[in-house]
Amino acid sequence: MERIEKLLLQNKAWVEQRNQADPNFFHRLSNIQTPQFLWIGCSDSRVPANEITGTDPGEMFVHRNIANMVIHTDMSLLSVLDYAVNVLHVAHVIVCGHYGCGGIKAAMSDKQFGLIDNWIRHIKDVYRLHRDELDSIENIQQRENRLIELNVIEQVNDLTKTSIIQNAWTSRESPFVHGWVYDIRNGLIKDLQVTVRDNNKPLDNRKYRSNSNLKT
Ligand code: CO
Repeated sequence: MERIEKLLLQNKAWVEQRNQADPNFFHRLSNIQTPQFLWIGCSDSRVPANEITGTDPGEMFVHRNIANMVIHTDMSLLSVLDYAVNVLHVAHVIVCGHYGCGGIKAAMSDKQFGLIDNWIRHIKDVYRLHRDELDSIENIQQRENRLIELNVIEQVNDLTKTSIIQNAWTSRESPFVHGWVYDIRNGLIKDLQVTVRDNNKPLDNRKYRSNSNLKT
């Protein structure tokens, strides 16, 4: 059977399973969505937001792009962020990167990949910002892991500078903005401990040092 047809069959099976577990499931979700979380993650197929966090439909508003970037001219990201913060009033915004990210690998190489080069240009800027620290890491795998972490921290930083988050913080003490990294090798999420929720606790990347003990 064609794989595309398999998807539709699996969908029917999933609906049956859901209805058996909770006959009101779809009825409830069709009337209202009140997610508490906005997830900004990578498009990588190995990092499905709901599955790895054990959340159900209705619990998480999701935006994914290559290498989980927050770019101030990205209308798609900004629209999602604005809706999540100002209409859905999410309590938490999570930027989640992942080890082994192809976008980061591409940004660390000198090769051209086509259109995506314009996108990963922003990751190269993150590298440039942290060049001293990154260049001092001799092991390439460890250097890549560190860039993945620093990239998440910079996206958290960029998020907090958006007018959307800034305005939300003037009227309430939320949302909290978090930086996480998912490990595709063991399924675990690492909290980078850079959570911010107001301007009184500005993020200082220099204070953050990796406690990663990843074997390479
Ligand atoms: Co990725």
